[in-house]
Amino acid sequence: MYSKITGTGSYFPDKVLTNADLEKIVDTSDEWITSRTGIKERRISENETTSDMAFKASLEAINSAGLESKDIDGVILATCTPDYLIPSSACLLAAKLNLKTPYAFDINAACSGFIYALGVADSLIKNGLGKNILVVGAERLSSIIDWTDRNTCILLGDGAGAAVLSASSEPGIRSICMQADGEYAEILTCRAGGSNALYDRDNFNIKENLFFMKGNEVFKIAVRSMAEIAVEAVEKSGLALEDVDYFIPHQANVRIIDAAAKRLKLEHDKVIITLDKFGNTSAATIPTALDISVKSGKIKKGDNVVSAAFGGGLTWASIFFTM
Ligand SMILES: CC(C)(COP(=O)(O)OP(=O)(O)OC[C@H]1O[C@@H](n2cnc3c(N)ncnc32)[C@H](O)[C@@H]1OP(=O)(O)O)[C@@H](O)C(=O)NCCC(=O)NCCS
Repeated sequence: MYSKITGTGSYFPDKVLTNADLEKIVDTSDEWITSRTGIKERRISENETTSDMAFKASLEAINSAGLESKDIDGVILATCTPDYLIPSSACLLAAKLNLKTPYAFDINAACSGFIYALGVADSLIKNGLGKNILVVGAERLSSIIDWTDRNTCILLGDGAGAAVLSASSEPGIRSICMQADGEYAEILTCRAGGSNALYDRDNFNIKENLFFMKGNEVFKIAVRSMAEIAVEAVEKSGLALEDVDYFIPHQANVRIIDAAAKRLKLEHDKVIITLDKFGNTSAATIPTALDISVKSGKIKKGDNVVSAAFGGGLTWASIFFTM
Protein backbone atom coordinates (compact mmCIF):
# COMPACT_ATOMS: atom_id res chain seq x y z
CA MET A 1 0.00 0.00 0.00
CA TYR A 2 1.12 3.54 -0.78
CA SER A 3 0.06 7.00 0.29
CA LYS A 4 -0.62 9.71 -2.26
CA ILE A 5 -1.41 13.43 -2.22
CA THR A 6 -4.99 13.64 -3.50
CA GLY A 7 -5.83 17.28 -2.76
CA THR A 8 -4.11 20.59 -2.01
CA GLY A 9 -5.12 24.03 -0.75
CA SER A 10 -3.57 27.28 0.40
CA TYR A 11 -4.46 30.57 2.02
CA PHE A 12 -2.65 33.86 2.62
CA PRO A 13 -3.96 36.88 4.52
CA ASP A 14 -4.75 39.97 2.42
CA LYS A 15 -2.34 42.46 3.99
CA VAL A 16 0.81 42.87 1.87
CA LEU A 17 4.03 44.12 3.50
CA THR A 18 6.49 45.23 0.82
CA ASN A 19 10.22 45.86 1.08
CA ALA A 20 9.41 49.58 0.72
CA ASP A 21 7.18 49.30 3.81
CA LEU A 22 10.05 47.68 5.73
CA GLU A 23 12.37 50.55 4.76
CA LYS A 24 10.16 52.70 7.01
CA ILE A 25 10.49 50.31 9.98
CA VAL A 26 14.20 49.31 10.01
CA ASP A 27 17.46 50.44 8.37
CA THR A 28 17.23 48.37 5.17
CA SER A 29 16.57 48.72 1.47
CA ASP A 30 14.61 46.95 -1.26
CA GLU A 31 17.93 46.45 -3.07
CA TRP A 32 19.55 44.68 -0.06
CA ILE A 33 16.56 42.44 0.65
CA THR A 34 16.04 41.50 -3.00
CA SER A 35 19.68 40.77 -3.78
CA ARG A 36 20.42 38.88 -0.51
CA THR A 37 17.17 36.91 -0.21
CA GLY A 38 14.99 37.20 -3.35
CA ILE A 39 12.03 38.40 -1.25
CA LYS A 40 9.96 41.37 -2.50
CA GLU A 41 6.88 41.18 -0.28
CA ARG A 42 5.15 39.00 2.30
CA ARG A 43 1.64 38.65 3.82
CA ILE A 44 0.80 39.62 7.38
CA SER A 45 -2.21 38.39 9.35
CA GLU A 46 -4.08 41.22 11.06
CA ASN A 47 -6.57 39.19 13.05
CA GLU A 48 -6.52 35.63 11.70
CA THR A 49 -4.95 32.95 13.86
CA THR A 50 -2.84 30.04 12.65
CA SER A 51 -5.86 27.72 12.88
CA ASP A 52 -8.07 30.24 11.01
CA MET A 53 -5.63 30.27 8.08
CA ALA A 54 -5.21 26.49 8.30
CA PHE A 55 -9.02 26.13 8.13
CA LYS A 56 -9.27 28.04 4.83
CA ALA A 57 -6.41 26.08 3.24
CA SER A 58 -7.87 22.78 4.52
CA LEU A 59 -11.34 23.39 3.07
CA GLU A 60 -9.73 23.78 -0.35
CA ALA A 61 -7.57 20.68 0.09
CA ILE A 62 -10.49 18.47 1.17
CA ASN A 63 -12.62 19.81 -1.67
CA SER A 64 -9.92 19.31 -4.30
CA ALA A 65 -9.46 15.71 -3.08
CA GLY A 66 -13.15 15.18 -3.86
CA LEU A 67 -13.82 14.40 -0.19
CA GLU A 68 -15.97 15.74 2.61
CA SER A 69 -14.93 16.55 6.15
CA LYS A 70 -16.44 13.27 7.39
CA ASP A 71 -13.91 11.34 5.25
CA ILE A 72 -10.91 12.74 7.16
CA ASP A 73 -9.47 10.27 9.69
CA GLY A 74 -6.73 12.44 11.18
CA VAL A 75 -5.29 15.95 11.26
CA ILE A 76 -1.58 16.72 11.55
CA LEU A 77 -0.70 20.40 11.70
CA ALA A 78 2.93 21.47 11.35
CA THR A 79 3.53 24.82 13.01
CA CYS A 80 5.94 26.64 15.29
CA THR A 81 3.37 29.40 15.90
CA PRO A 82 0.31 27.54 17.26
CA ASP A 83 -2.66 29.55 18.55
CA TYR A 84 -1.98 28.23 22.07
CA LEU A 85 0.24 25.77 23.93
CA ILE A 86 -2.92 23.81 24.81
CA PRO A 87 -5.01 22.80 22.94
CA SER A 88 -3.07 21.98 19.80
CA SER A 89 -3.99 24.02 16.73
CA ALA A 90 -4.79 20.70 15.02
CA CYS A 91 -7.64 20.19 17.54
CA LEU A 92 -8.90 23.73 16.92
CA LEU A 93 -8.72 23.09 13.18
CA ALA A 94 -10.60 19.78 13.50
CA ALA A 95 -13.38 21.57 15.40
CA LYS A 96 -13.58 24.37 12.78
CA LEU A 97 -13.88 21.68 10.08
CA ASN A 98 -16.58 19.98 12.16
CA LEU A 99 -14.66 16.69 12.25
CA LYS A 100 -16.16 14.49 14.91
CA THR A 101 -13.63 11.87 15.92
CA PRO A 102 -10.35 12.24 14.12
CA TYR A 103 -6.99 12.09 15.83
CA ALA A 104 -5.38 15.52 15.77
CA PHE A 105 -1.98 16.81 16.85
CA ASP A 106 0.62 19.46 16.08
CA ILE A 107 4.19 18.85 14.96
CA ASN A 108 6.94 21.37 15.51
CA ALA A 109 9.96 20.83 13.30
CA ALA A 110 10.09 24.54 12.36
CA CYS A 111 10.51 25.03 8.60
CA SER A 112 10.90 21.26 8.04
CA GLY A 113 7.55 20.63 9.74
CA PHE A 114 5.40 19.93 6.70
CA ILE A 115 7.73 17.22 5.38
CA TYR A 116 7.99 15.70 8.87
CA ALA A 117 4.17 15.73 9.05
CA LEU A 118 3.89 13.99 5.68
CA GLY A 119 6.39 11.39 6.95
CA VAL A 120 4.23 10.68 10.01
CA ALA A 121 1.02 10.61 7.94
CA ASP A 122 2.58 8.22 5.42
CA SER A 123 3.51 5.82 8.27
CA LEU A 124 0.04 6.07 9.81
CA ILE A 125 -1.60 5.19 6.50
CA LYS A 126 0.78 2.27 5.91
CA ASN A 127 -0.06 1.00 9.41
CA GLY A 128 -3.79 1.13 8.73
CA LEU A 129 -4.44 4.12 10.98
CA GLY A 130 -6.55 6.04 8.51
CA LYS A 131 -7.26 6.30 4.79
CA ASN A 132 -7.32 10.08 4.43
CA ILE A 133 -5.14 12.31 6.59
CA LEU A 134 -5.22 16.09 6.45
CA VAL A 135 -1.64 17.40 6.61
CA VAL A 136 -1.24 21.14 7.12
CA GLY A 137 1.59 23.65 7.42
CA ALA A 138 0.40 26.95 8.89
CA GLU A 139 2.20 29.85 10.53
CA ARG A 140 1.51 33.24 12.00
CA LEU A 141 5.20 34.18 12.19
CA SER A 142 4.37 37.90 12.41
CA SER A 143 3.38 37.20 16.04
CA ILE A 144 6.96 36.26 17.01
CA ILE A 145 8.92 38.67 14.79
CA ASP A 146 11.22 41.19 16.47
CA TRP A 147 10.26 44.24 14.38
CA THR A 148 13.43 46.07 15.50
CA ASP A 149 15.78 43.35 14.13
CA ARG A 150 16.55 43.98 10.44
CA ASN A 151 18.39 40.64 10.24
CA THR A 152 15.16 38.67 10.64
CA CYS A 153 12.03 40.84 10.30
CA ILE A 154 12.51 41.13 6.53
CA LEU A 155 12.43 37.37 6.03
CA LEU A 156 9.18 36.08 7.48
CA GLY A 157 5.48 36.05 6.56
CA ASP A 158 2.16 34.39 7.42
CA GLY A 159 0.11 31.78 5.54
CA ALA A 160 -1.16 28.22 5.42
CA GLY A 161 -1.02 25.28 3.03
CA ALA A 162 -2.75 21.92 3.25
CA ALA A 163 -2.74 18.54 1.55
CA VAL A 164 -4.85 15.42 1.87
CA LEU A 165 -2.75 12.26 1.99
CA SER A 166 -4.78 9.19 1.01
CA ALA A 167 -4.19 5.43 0.91
CA SER A 168 -3.48 4.41 -2.66
CA SER A 169 -2.65 1.33 -4.70
CA GLU A 170 -0.27 3.31 -6.92
CA PRO A 171 2.92 5.09 -5.79
CA GLY A 172 2.58 8.60 -4.41
CA ILE A 173 5.18 9.17 -1.72
CA ARG A 174 8.29 7.26 -2.81
CA SER A 175 10.80 8.27 -0.12
CA ILE A 176 11.13 10.49 2.92
CA CYS A 177 14.30 11.57 4.78
CA MET A 178 14.21 13.38 8.13
CA GLN A 179 17.13 14.60 10.25
CA ALA A 180 17.84 16.87 13.21
CA ASP A 181 20.86 18.16 15.11
CA GLY A 182 20.13 19.82 18.45
CA GLU A 183 23.79 20.87 18.77
CA TYR A 184 22.80 23.90 16.71
CA ALA A 185 19.66 24.72 18.72
CA GLU A 186 20.92 28.15 19.78
CA ILE A 187 21.37 29.63 16.28
CA LEU A 188 17.65 29.75 15.53
CA THR A 189 15.26 30.20 18.45
CA CYS A 190 12.00 31.59 19.75
CA ARG A 191 11.69 31.13 23.50
CA ALA A 192 8.29 32.78 23.99
CA GLY A 193 5.54 30.36 24.95
CA GLY A 194 7.95 27.69 26.13
CA SER A 195 7.90 26.46 29.74
CA ASN A 196 11.39 27.82 30.47
CA ALA A 197 10.37 31.31 29.38
CA LEU A 198 7.11 31.14 31.37
CA TYR A 199 8.75 29.64 34.47
CA ASP A 200 10.80 32.82 34.77
CA ARG A 201 7.76 35.01 34.09
CA ASP A 202 8.67 37.75 36.60
CA ASN A 203 11.79 38.51 34.55
CA PHE A 204 10.17 38.02 31.16
CA ASN A 205 11.87 40.24 28.57
CA ILE A 206 9.83 40.14 25.38
CA LYS A 207 12.73 41.06 23.05
CA GLU A 208 14.87 38.15 24.29
CA ASN A 209 11.96 35.79 23.69
CA LEU A 210 11.12 36.71 20.10
CA PHE A 211 12.41 35.11 16.89
CA PHE A 212 16.22 35.14 16.82
CA MET A 213 18.58 33.79 14.18
CA LYS A 214 22.30 33.85 13.44
CA GLY A 215 21.46 34.07 9.74
CA ASN A 216 24.90 33.52 8.24
CA GLU A 217 25.57 30.42 10.42
CA VAL A 218 22.19 28.97 9.47
CA PHE A 219 22.88 29.86 5.84
CA LYS A 220 26.09 27.79 5.66
CA ILE A 221 24.48 24.66 7.13
CA ALA A 222 21.29 25.14 5.08
CA VAL A 223 23.14 25.34 1.77
CA ARG A 224 24.88 22.00 2.43
CA SER A 225 22.12 20.07 4.21
CA MET A 226 19.20 20.97 1.98
CA ALA A 227 21.06 20.02 -1.19
CA GLU A 228 22.36 16.75 0.32
CA ILE A 229 19.02 15.61 1.69
CA ALA A 230 17.20 16.45 -1.57
CA VAL A 231 19.61 14.22 -3.50
CA GLU A 232 19.25 11.51 -0.79
CA ALA A 233 15.45 11.40 -1.25
CA VAL A 234 15.81 10.82 -4.98
CA GLU A 235 18.46 8.11 -4.50
CA LYS A 236 16.40 6.39 -1.78
CA SER A 237 13.35 6.28 -4.09
CA GLY A 238 15.13 4.05 -6.61
CA LEU A 239 14.53 6.63 -9.37
CA ALA A 240 17.21 8.92 -10.80
CA LEU A 241 17.85 12.68 -10.80
CA GLU A 242 16.74 12.71 -14.47
CA ASP A 243 13.30 11.54 -13.30
CA VAL A 244 12.68 14.70 -11.27
CA ASP A 245 10.10 16.96 -12.94
CA TYR A 246 9.93 19.67 -10.27
CA PHE A 247 11.76 20.77 -7.13
CA ILE A 248 9.78 22.48 -4.35
CA PRO A 249 12.35 23.83 -1.89
CA HIS A 250 11.65 25.50 1.44
CA GLN A 251 11.46 29.22 0.61
CA ALA A 252 14.02 30.85 2.91
CA ASN A 253 16.56 32.37 0.54
CA VAL A 254 16.90 32.19 -3.25
CA ARG A 255 20.66 31.67 -2.89
CA ILE A 256 20.10 28.50 -0.80
CA ILE A 257 17.53 27.32 -3.37
CA ASP A 258 19.91 27.91 -6.30
CA ALA A 259 22.66 25.87 -4.59
CA ALA A 260 20.29 22.93 -4.01
CA ALA A 261 18.92 23.11 -7.57
CA LYS A 262 22.49 22.95 -8.89
CA ARG A 263 23.16 19.75 -6.89
CA LEU A 264 19.95 18.27 -8.35
CA LYS A 265 21.13 19.37 -11.84
CA LEU A 266 17.81 21.14 -12.42
CA GLU A 267 17.14 24.01 -14.81
CA HIS A 268 15.51 27.14 -13.37
CA ASP A 269 12.05 26.37 -14.83
CA LYS A 270 11.91 23.12 -12.82
CA VAL A 271 12.32 24.97 -9.52
CA ILE A 272 9.22 26.37 -7.80
CA ILE A 273 9.81 29.82 -6.31
CA THR A 274 7.19 31.68 -4.28
CA LEU A 275 9.36 33.57 -1.78
CA ASP A 276 9.37 36.76 -3.88
CA LYS A 277 5.65 37.17 -3.09
CA PHE A 278 5.30 35.47 0.29
CA GLY A 279 8.72 35.40 2.01
CA ASN A 280 9.55 32.60 4.43
CA THR A 281 6.34 31.20 5.97
CA SER A 282 8.21 28.32 7.70
CA ALA A 283 6.12 25.11 7.69
CA ALA A 284 3.70 26.70 5.20
CA THR A 285 6.17 27.34 2.34
CA ILE A 286 6.09 23.86 0.78
CA PRO A 287 2.32 23.11 0.90
CA THR A 288 1.48 26.61 -0.37
CA ALA A 289 4.06 26.36 -3.19
CA LEU A 290 2.67 22.93 -4.11
CA ASP A 291 -0.91 24.21 -4.21
CA ILE A 292 0.01 27.31 -6.23
CA SER A 293 1.84 25.10 -8.77
CA VAL A 294 -1.08 22.68 -9.02
CA LYS A 295 -3.63 25.50 -9.45
CA SER A 296 -1.52 27.19 -12.16
CA GLY A 297 -1.33 23.88 -14.04
CA LYS A 298 2.45 23.69 -13.73
CA ILE A 299 2.55 20.53 -11.61
CA LYS A 300 0.26 17.86 -13.05
CA LYS A 301 -0.85 14.35 -12.20
CA GLY A 302 2.04 11.94 -12.77
CA ASP A 303 4.81 14.51 -12.22
CA ASN A 304 7.69 13.49 -9.97
CA VAL A 305 8.38 16.12 -7.34
CA VAL A 306 11.27 16.40 -4.89
CA SER A 307 10.90 18.74 -1.95
CA ALA A 308 13.42 19.68 0.75
CA ALA A 309 13.36 21.91 3.81
CA PHE A 310 15.61 23.22 6.50
CA GLY A 311 14.85 25.00 9.77
CA GLY A 312 15.17 25.54 13.51
CA GLY A 313 16.17 22.63 15.67
CA LEU A 314 18.13 22.37 13.56
CA THR A 315 16.03 20.09 11.38
CA TRP A 316 16.12 19.18 7.73
CA ALA A 317 14.03 16.82 5.63
CA SER A 318 13.13 15.81 2.09
CA ILE A 319 10.45 13.91 0.22
CA PHE A 320 10.14 12.49 -3.28
CA PHE A 321 6.62 11.87 -4.55
CA THR A 322 4.56 11.36 -7.66
CA MET A 323 1.47 13.55 -7.95
C1 LIG B 1 19.57 36.10 6.83
C2 LIG B 1 20.36 36.21 5.55
C3 LIG B 1 19.47 36.66 4.41
C4 LIG B 1 21.45 37.26 5.72
O1 LIG B 1 22.24 37.34 4.55
P1 LIG B 1 23.85 37.28 4.67
O2 LIG B 1 24.34 37.43 3.30
O3 LIG B 1 24.20 36.01 5.41
O4 LIG B 1 24.17 38.56 5.51
P2 LIG B 1 24.89 38.69 6.93
O5 LIG B 1 24.02 38.16 8.01
O6 LIG B 1 26.27 38.09 6.81
O7 LIG B 1 25.00 40.25 7.06
C5 LIG B 1 25.78 41.03 6.16
C6 LIG B 1 25.61 42.50 6.51
O8 LIG B 1 24.29 42.94 6.14
C7 LIG B 1 23.66 43.56 7.25
N1 LIG B 1 22.23 43.33 7.20
C8 LIG B 1 21.53 42.30 7.75
N2 LIG B 1 20.23 42.45 7.49
C9 LIG B 1 20.10 43.56 6.76
C10 LIG B 1 19.00 44.22 6.18
N3 LIG B 1 17.74 43.75 6.30
N4 LIG B 1 19.22 45.34 5.46
C11 LIG B 1 20.45 45.83 5.31
N5 LIG B 1 21.55 45.25 5.84
C12 LIG B 1 21.36 44.12 6.55
C13 LIG B 1 24.30 42.94 8.47
O9 LIG B 1 24.15 43.78 9.59
C14 LIG B 1 25.72 42.78 8.01
O10 LIG B 1 26.38 44.06 8.15
P3 LIG B 1 27.87 44.14 8.74
O11 LIG B 1 28.71 43.36 7.78
O12 LIG B 1 28.12 45.60 8.76
O13 LIG B 1 27.77 43.48 10.09
C15 LIG B 1 21.00 34.84 5.19
O14 LIG B 1 22.05 34.57 6.07
C16 LIG B 1 20.05 33.69 5.23
O15 LIG B 1 19.17 33.56 4.40
N6 LIG B 1 20.24 32.77 6.17
C17 LIG B 1 19.51 31.52 6.24
C18 LIG B 1 18.10 31.70 6.65
C19 LIG B 1 17.43 30.36 6.66
O16 LIG B 1 17.65 29.51 5.81
N7 LIG B 1 16.63 30.08 7.63
C20 LIG B 1 16.08 28.76 7.68
C21 LIG B 1 14.91 28.60 8.37
S1 LIG B 1 14.05 29.97 8.99
